[in-house]
Amino acid sequence: MSNGGHDWKPEQARKSLRRLLPELEEEFASQLEPVAFDWHRFKNRLNREWERLFSYLHELYGWQYDFHYTLERVLRSLIQSWLERPEPLRRLDEKREADPEWFQSQEMVGIVLYVDLFSDRLAKLKDHIPYFKKLGLTYLHLMPLFVSPHGENDGGYAVSDYRSINPDLGSIDDLEEVTAALRDEGISVVLDLVFNHTSDEHQWAMRAKAGDPDFMAFYFTFPDRELPDQFQRYLRDIFPEARAGSFTWDDELGRWVWTTFNSYQWDLNYANAEVFRAMAEEMLFLANRGVEVLRLDAVAFLWKRLGTDCENQPEAHTIIRAFNAMARIAAPALLFKSEAIVHPNEVIRYVHPDECQLSYNPLLMALLWEALATQDVRLLAHSMRTRYRLPAGCAWINYLRCHDDIGWTFDDDDARSVGIDPRAHRRFLSQFYTGEIPGSYARGKKFQQNALTGDVRVAGTLSSLAGLEDALERNDSELIERSVRRITLLMGIQVSIGGLPLLYAGDEYGMVNDYTYLTDPRKVKDSRWVHRCKKRWEAQEDLADADTIEWRFFRETSKLFKLRKQLPALYDGGMEVVDTGNPHLFAYLRSHAEQRLLVVANFSEATQTSDARFMLPSVPEGEALDRLSGHRVALADGLVLEHHRAVWLEL
Ligand code: GLC
Repeated sequence: MSNGGHDWKPEQARKSLRRLLPELEEEFASQLEPVAFDWHRFKNRLNREWERLFSYLHELYGWQYDFHYTLERVLRSLIQSWLERPEPLRRLDEKREADPEWFQSQEMVGIVLYVDLFSDRLAKLKDHIPYFKKLGLTYLHLMPLFVSPHGENDGGYAVSDYRSINPDLGSIDDLEEVTAALRDEGISVVLDLVFNHTSDEHQWAMRAKAGDPDFMAFYFTFPDRELPDQFQRYLRDIFPEARAGSFTWDDELGRWVWTTFNSYQWDLNYANAEVFRAMAEEMLFLANRGVEVLRLDAVAFLWKRLGTDCENQPEAHTIIRAFNAMARIAAPALLFKSEAIVHPNEVIRYVHPDECQLSYNPLLMALLWEALATQDVRLLAHSMRTRYRLPAGCAWINYLRCHDDIGWTFDDDDARSVGIDPRAHRRFLSQFYTGEIPGSYARGKKFQQNALTGDVRVAGTLSSLAGLEDALERNDSELIERSVRRITLLMGIQVSIGGLPLLYAGDEYGMVNDYTYLTDPRKVKDSRWVHRCKKRWEAQEDLADADTIEWRFFRETSKLFKLRKQLPALYDGGMEVVDTGNPHLFAYLRSHAEQRLLVVANFSEATQTSDARFMLPSVPEGEALDRLSGHRVALADGLVLEHHRAVWLEL
């Protein structure tokens, strides 16, 4: 906003800080004195970031009469949480500030797991550090750990208390011990910040139900259907099988509540500055427990606006940027990873050094599966050519499977431009991966079929979707071999295409679907449980036996991770898609620090050939070293690749 051509915001920002800071410094004087040097650093960061924080907060709350109070509360939270920040984490802050792009390193490799399914309890994770080291992991995402309702709780995504660990898993002390132990081993801990909603058992919700107006204002509640009906006209159902509509009647409250996901997940109202402040404090609390990356859950839904679908509103970005500025001041080692499983144009808007430095790459994930099913890489190549690039200082998190379903989130025009009818194609993909197409090897389950739109998503493990479960059941060694190759093909791309690869625990030993959820009343309605399997530690014993499928996967996975770490060309996410002239071959160039790698991957079920020099004139005429196999590959008669094979040619 300007005033006679003069931007008043920087000036007002400075003025507000000049007014607020001395008072707070006086109030905290006795605690600040012993840490005078660090406090000086804090103040430098505050001075650097305050102006943008002020401007975001002004955008969100400047119109409210008590804005100055909001500023004071936010500044106080920053100081308090920084004062509570343990010494080793302040040292980590310094280290990360000196090397802000540490996560771009090819040394980075991640895993995501459910603590109960992996090690029963949080404290026991420490016993598995040798396992993580063996795989070469540096990034460990723990699925939601916090207290949540006993019955259905959306796999922990309905949080009842952001400061207490589910007692079945352990305690906050355990979390601190685990993060410290892993940090010492060079492994960064990642947790979710489920900040779009709380469970209906959270203290804030309970106080709202008790009629406290301050807490009713934490949520969107309505006495009748008038406004909900107006909003509803533009909203989509996220879990259409669970129920229709985004509002739930609550008897205790005697009102309708906004519940985008399940009826027990109450959306928070970020138009209320107190909600922003309260959640920012929870964020900094987690940072102070040693969490280095927060996965910002369901970012698209943070802000509601009548007459829109209430997704990806500009204010959702402003809220995250304000959190980002707060983290830079009080816990600069903390990074954000956005979870926006929406249209690719929207996904990218959350990725920026001032917003989320990391982001899931749902498009790559979906299109790798798409190319595997169709044996045709045109949509994948076209989309990656135009959509892979991120702002400097940011990275993709590349995954093949996670705890959620697969949705076919590609762009319709991208599809049309390569001659694909997007609607029919999505239907085909869901049918293929749920085994409905004759000849399909996949064993996925349908997730949340939408009767209105015809949309269906797919659940299932990497191995079951790629044919291993089917092949094992048929006890057919040829089919087993094919499925193993499909899986390693996808993994090879995941680790080399640029960004941080994130393994879904169990995939390192070829975990197949687990159907026991069908007999558990708390899970049966949610087919995502088919791929949320208990770790089979007995498979660990099989890892010592060279003949088992588990061992083969473990060896392939750790080999790929090890190789990634050795190749400077795989630093960061710079990637150039290369035209192969063959619709079955996907190729890209990675280069960094004077190393150039040309990756070529065959998505076909048959052998394919391509003229490597057609792809890139700089490819040598005779032969080149394939870093993946370690062998020299003859190129004189073109590059010949068997089904589902890839090469990483060093140029
Ligand atoms: C995210 C989670 C998903 C959860 C939803 C609601 O999308 O990944 O598992 O159901 O948010 O919190």
